[in-house]
Amino acid sequence: MTTSRHHFPPGFLWGAATAAYQIEGAWNADGKGESIWDHFSHTPGRIRRGETGDVACDHYHRYAEDVDLMAEIGLQSYRFSIAWPRIFPHGDTALNQKGLDFYRRLVAALRERGIVPMATLYHWDLPQKLQERGGWVNRDTAMRFAEYAAFLFEHLGAEIPLWATHNEPFISAYFGYGNGEKAPGVRRFWDVLTVGHHLLLSHGLAVQAYRASGRRAEAGGHSGIGIVLMIWPHHPASASPRDVQANRLVDGAMNRMFLEALFCRRYPDDMWQHFRRRLMLPRVAPGDMELIGQPMDFLGINTYTRVVNAANWRDLLAGAQQVTPQEPTTAMGWEIYPPSIYESVMKVRSYGDIPLYITENGIALHDEKGNDGRVADGARIAYMQSHLAELHRAMAEGADVRGYYVWSLLDNFEWELGYDKRFGLIHVDFATQKRTLKDSAYWYRDLIATNSLS
Ligand code: FCB
Repeated sequence: MTTSRHHFPPGFLWGAATAAYQIEGAWNADGKGESIWDHFSHTPGRIRRGETGDVACDHYHRYAEDVDLMAEIGLQSYRFSIAWPRIFPHGDTALNQKGLDFYRRLVAALRERGIVPMATLYHWDLPQKLQERGGWVNRDTAMRFAEYAAFLFEHLGAEIPLWATHNEPFISAYFGYGNGEKAPGVRRFWDVLTVGHHLLLSHGLAVQAYRASGRRAEAGGHSGIGIVLMIWPHHPASASPRDVQANRLVDGAMNRMFLEALFCRRYPDDMWQHFRRRLMLPRVAPGDMELIGQPMDFLGINTYTRVVNAANWRDLLAGAQQVTPQEPTTAMGWEIYPPSIYESVMKVRSYGDIPLYITENGIALHDEKGNDGRVADGARIAYMQSHLAELHRAMAEGADVRGYYVWSLLDNFEWELGYDKRFGLIHVDFATQKRTLKDSAYWYRDLIATNSLS
């Protein structure tokens, strides 16, 4: 019997990802300000079972142990996010030194173990004080974000080689300000494009601040600044023109609006016409699109599954409805569809040849620890294996993918769904905070050690 192996290029970066609110806990420790997620999760009825990120994985206090576990797995990079209100509790420029010190310690621990830090500036936890002034509906928030970003480039820029401005601006806009399922929980669909525009504008301003700080991406290395987008492929439920049109609009809202703005310095015409009829257009000031579309050093892709869309006239936004995902599905109810990662990469690639990182990919399961102490998550291994084979296929066809981050390092707080969606390579017992490496962590360790997939 022959076994085939997929080899990844030398220097390919293997990592895992997290986000501040989902793991840190310590929500009001050491001078941290309230974020929109603190506020939202403390509002009754917003989160399943009334759970909150108050403690989460207590990573704020246990980061050293967590970095040791990363080293045990052999991670080469770690993607985490910085909680803006830990640095600037009120969203202005009054610094909370202890918050900055925490990230300094974390980054130092990573670097000691040779783990390359990738920091996301915004993974959804806006200072609540800024929300009280309109949040991302207010253009001024983009300016505040640029100040926060510039501060971090100055103080951590020498230690952190990879920076992502935003995580999934689509989710921030549509789920934060449209359907209100995520913080700040606002339901004003007519504002979502304005929010999206301000998020992109703040990205552009942060890239500008990064360049002004004198930092440059080194050719061939892992450094520079980019943005992380959610890129899921969309497929029409049938070949009927109505389904095809509905699918085009959903893909337009989720993917093309962001990709075209960033790569082509414009919003897609068809989407502009579509949203104009819904009185949703944002105010675009002269120069905005140039700022948004200035060159970045890489693009991060978060991809998990595909979406199949059918026409539904009752949906005001895109006249579409998502078709019930086909089995097999994950604990999130998402279809397991390995070509999704290939299609996501190829879609982005059609916009331009820019270095790519898969900044999130993974599976939620209802993992349990067995009597032998093991967490046997074969389904996660199968998911990673099949998706990495599809990623390899995209790379074999020329896609310049530089690294892959599993979502997630640890089981954590899955936003409005709380704690029962376990995405981690590491099992967390939330009652005791005990960490246990799952089978997938050992499997990933072997993969990293050989830089190849069997
Ligand atoms: C992504 C988020 C991440 C996590 C995964 C499951 O959309 O960026 O924080 O919730 O989904």
